[in-house]
Amino acid sequence: MDEQGHDDHRTTVTIAPPAAATSYEVRVRPGLLDQAGRLIAASCSADRYAVIADTQVANLYGERVLEALAGADLDAMLLRFPAGEWNKSRESWSELSDRMLKAGFGPDAAVVALGGGVAGDLAGFVAATLMGGVPLIRIPTTLLAMLDCSVGGRTGVDTPAGKNRVGAVHQPSLVLTDPTVLGTLPAPQFAAGLAAAIKHGLILDAAYFETLAGELDEVFARRPEVLTRLISRSVEIKAEVVSRDARENGYSAVLDFGHSVAGAQEAIAGYAWLHGEALAAGMALEAAIGEAAGVTRAGVSRRVSEVLEAAGLPVALDDDVDAERFFQALEGGGKQEAGGIRCTLLDDIGRLAGSAEKGWSQVVPVDLVRAVLFG
Ligand SMILES: NC(=O)c1ccc[n+]([C@@H]2O[C@H](COP(=O)([O-])OP(=O)(O)OC[C@H]3O[C@@H](n4cnc5c(N)ncnc54)[C@H](O)[C@@H]3O)[C@@H](O)[C@H]2O)c1
Repeated sequence: MDEQGHDDHRTTVTIAPPAAATSYEVRVRPGLLDQAGRLIAASCSADRYAVIADTQVANLYGERVLEALAGADLDAMLLRFPAGEWNKSRESWSELSDRMLKAGFGPDAAVVALGGGVAGDLAGFVAATLMGGVPLIRIPTTLLAMLDCSVGGRTGVDTPAGKNRVGAVHQPSLVLTDPTVLGTLPAPQFAAGLAAAIKHGLILDAAYFETLAGELDEVFARRPEVLTRLISRSVEIKAEVVSRDARENGYSAVLDFGHSVAGAQEAIAGYAWLHGEALAAGMALEAAIGEAAGVTRAGVSRRVSEVLEAAGLPVALDDDVDAERFFQALEGGGKQEAGGIRCTLLDDIGRLAGSAEKGWSQVVPVDLVRAVLFG
């Protein structure tokens, strides 16, 4: 009520929850790329499809996907953007959206995100926002995108204030994963993707972690049947986490193991470190932090580092990262709190230290982190 005694006119707007839970299939099989048309036609029909890919992936696989869609009588157009994390930007998003609108794509369109995590997040954000949202099909082509980004529906772009600061949750209608396309992926990108698989094992599945550790040679030989098994198990783990998070808000913090330290390293290094490389160093160091805090079983950090190193991944921060820069970057990433640093810690390999009651992350004293990381 205001000073003149007028009350507000109030209307309560109630939006009913969706009639059914959202669900979608993630299909993994060598050879799926060439069957994309038939599979998309069966589960995500649209008047017209915009296949969005970075230039590198468009050159390698764009025509094949267009042919597969044409083979199922689907009308499609390929839209390219320049490759690189720095192009996961609002500028790329507006340019792609404008090109789609100019080409006459409307509410009956669908977007096919073809590529790595950058194409997935960027094209996904275009799909989430164009005409208020159109269906999205993901065809991931990096290991990271296959086993991590394609599940969970996160889309978005980077901003000067940090990575992924603007975005939307927009679940795909279908994810088609063909492990044979990994044959052309550069080695550092392949290893960086493997870091995410190792994380999945470390947080929730010790047997998966040890299997991965034991068959690194076959994984690096990129044998399609080995990759199919690996990607499928990681997708199952991520899907379980995402589904449980929808019931138990906050559970997805289990995926943050390694991310507090990794986020600081990434913020300092800019684009010089791949996300998976920073994640690897973050996991090795957070395992050591967990041990020093008496939370993680002694010996775990040695095993974690051993396997990451065998996979050709870093287990320490960059030489030029000192304590001052590190803690500054950590604060910028929102992980530093009064009294310490928020981390998701392991209890043992395959088991997290948190719980639904106590939360899945905990605050570790700054001095302890400083001692472990900077001696
Ligand atoms: N949405 C999510 O849940 C989620 C989760 C984790 C990471 N991400 C995001 O993923 C992004 C990183 O993804 P990325 O590592 O896949 O990077 P990326 O998409 O930039 O791909 C890496 C490079 O590999 C090239 N490439 C892709 N597939 C190829 C292939 N089959 N053969 C040859 N070259 C190929 C690309 O052109 C690019 O140059 C980050 O922006 C990160 O924020 C999103």
